[in-house]
Amino acid sequence: MNFKGQHILSTEQFDRDRILKVFYEALKMEKSFNSKKNSILMKGKILATVFFEPSTRTRFSFETAMLRLGGSVISNSAMMQTSSITKGESLSDTAQILSRFADVIVMRHPRSNAVSEFALGSKVPVINAGDGSHDHPTQGLLDLHTIYKEKGKIDGLTIGLVGDLKYSRVFHSQARLLSNFKVKLCLVSPAELALQEEIVALLKTKRIPFEVKEDILKVIKNLDVISTNRIQEERFSDKKEFEKFRNKYVFNKEVLNRAKRDSILINPLPRVDELSPEIDDDPRCKHFEQVSNGVYVRMALLKLVFGF
Ligand code: NCD
Repeated sequence: MNFKGQHILSTEQFDRDRILKVFYEALKMEKSFNSKKNSILMKGKILATVFFEPSTRTRFSFETAMLRLGGSVISNSAMMQTSSITKGESLSDTAQILSRFADVIVMRHPRSNAVSEFALGSKVPVINAGDGSHDHPTQGLLDLHTIYKEKGKIDGLTIGLVGDLKYSRVFHSQARLLSNFKVKLCLVSPAELALQEEIVALLKTKRIPFEVKEDILKVIKNLDVISTNRIQEERFSDKKEFEKFRNKYVFNKEVLNRAKRDSILINPLPRVDELSPEIDDDPRCKHFEQVSNGVYVRMALLKLVFGF
């Protein structure tokens, strides 16, 4: 249960108790954030954000979290182009250096497991902000926190993961985290973009009932939570393949009209084709609420990692 001094590299590190602990701390952080009084919890501490892949929400929300907690931030959002990595420095050496400057490091990289490789060289906790198509633990935690806040529970829900189940690290994180609860999953994707065998095996081991479907319209009325994400264009080696799927799942008024009245729809953003702005005002859509929840969850994780 203790997070102090630990890296946060994978959703596999989170069991049910740890997830609930993050929710509990995040609710406290939300209150503190809304009081508009900046905390001094992280006074004197420095967060480094090191991004080798584009980001808007994840980087800014970690930085906002640290600043709201009274800490400071050093940042490079274009590591791939401007850091000494371009001169051939290894990830491990980069980590050695940065961990002499910062007290905690948040890192994103386009290659699966690159963040874990980096963490081997770090003397301070490293938090994975997305590594290739592998994992995005803090996004998965904020998605589950959103479900928990909106539905008051996670156990007992039927949750659909809809879209690019092969390449979306967000779906991978959600599936692993949800396997700690008594949920039913509906895995909706074209066969070519199915969930990888390793995660399917985990669902089986943990006895999570799931069904595999291609047509969202056939199952949408059964879903309490509709989890969506864009088709991950940058991970396709064949762009024609991407074009084939880019409009496969488009959530608009017509589609959402078929969903339960009390369902919710989540999306980590950025959205491209899969989420029409015409449904932004539908009370079931929580994609902007997720952004705020992301700050509270990241404030909670920083607090836990420092052991405060
Ligand atoms: C996600 C990511 O980076 O995986 N974005 C995010 O962190 N909010 C989702 C995506 O890029 O599709």
